[in-house]
Amino acid sequence: MMDSNTVLFGVIGDPIRHSKSPIMLNRAFKEKGINCAYAAFHVAPNQLEQAIAGVRGLGFRGLNVTIPHKIEVMALLDELSEGAKAAGAVNTIVNENGRLVGYNTDGIGYVRSLKEEIEPSLTGKTIIVLGAGGAARGIIWALAQENPAAIIIANRTESKASELAASFSLAGKVTSIPWSDLQEACKQADVVINTTSVGMSPNIEKVPLDPSWLRIGSVASDLIYNPLKTEFLKQAELQGCRIHGGLGMFIYQGAYAFEYWTGQPAPVEEMRAVVMESLS
Ligand code: ATR
Repeated sequence: MMDSNTVLFGVIGDPIRHSKSPIMLNRAFKEKGINCAYAAFHVAPNQLEQAIAGVRGLGFRGLNVTIPHKIEVMALLDELSEGAKAAGAVNTIVNENGRLVGYNTDGIGYVRSLKEEIEPSLTGKTIIVLGAGGAARGIIWALAQENPAAIIIANRTESKASELAASFSLAGKVTSIPWSDLQEACKQADVVINTTSVGMSPNIEKVPLDPSWLRIGSVASDLIYNPLKTEFLKQAELQGCRIHGGLGMFIYQGAYAFEYWTGQPAPVEEMRAVVMESLS
């Protein structure tokens, strides 16, 4: 029950009413028996500055930030983590005694999900990233921390792939290839990750690449979690790939936020269960 000592959290976005974060984080607080509460706030772009001032004024301990505020919010904070700077976006704010620190838990959340659910080590692995938008940028820095052999970006608009690769000063570890070289590159790939919007509801029959290009035993991963199993993953599975969907990224980005805010390990399985229940 909330009382005069309840510590407050929230998520801001536009739209926001679809967000599963409140049920997931409130379940986590309950599981750990800590006196915290988490709500969703609809904040339009022209209200972002006031919303952040409100966090300071009311002493919220933390905030999640979602579309369309992840980039604009950075200018309103006091400090940014290395990961947030690399991703060029913030999804989690921690209020450290009045100092607002911005983090990005999307990329590290994705990587933790990939490692815990399907591929325990990415060291020495060759990873192909399909797409070169904000979602790709968000995960590449986190993937690079795992010491893979190579991260190769391929995108419909090739110039965006080469610009994104060049923006990571990681000594040749992040490169780009033209889409026309993708079939050949897939023969060497251990993990192929779809970060494009291809296959997202309502266009669920679409696939980002021909799944017959994928190597048997390699991992096919999709950031999309609606649907839970995209057509890309369905076809990849038939092809003999191990598959990894996008729901884990959502769960673990929330788990990291919980851990930054409370200093306690997140009850990941309970968080996953309550989200799965709400989706069914
Ligand atoms: P997000 O923040 O989700 O990454 P984004 O920045 O708009 O969104 O990026 C969308 C990505 O999906 C881009 O890589 C885009 O390719 P382009 O750079 O060529 O636009 C990719 N994408 C979207 N629709 C696509 C399609 N029909 N075929 C291939 N790639 C597509």
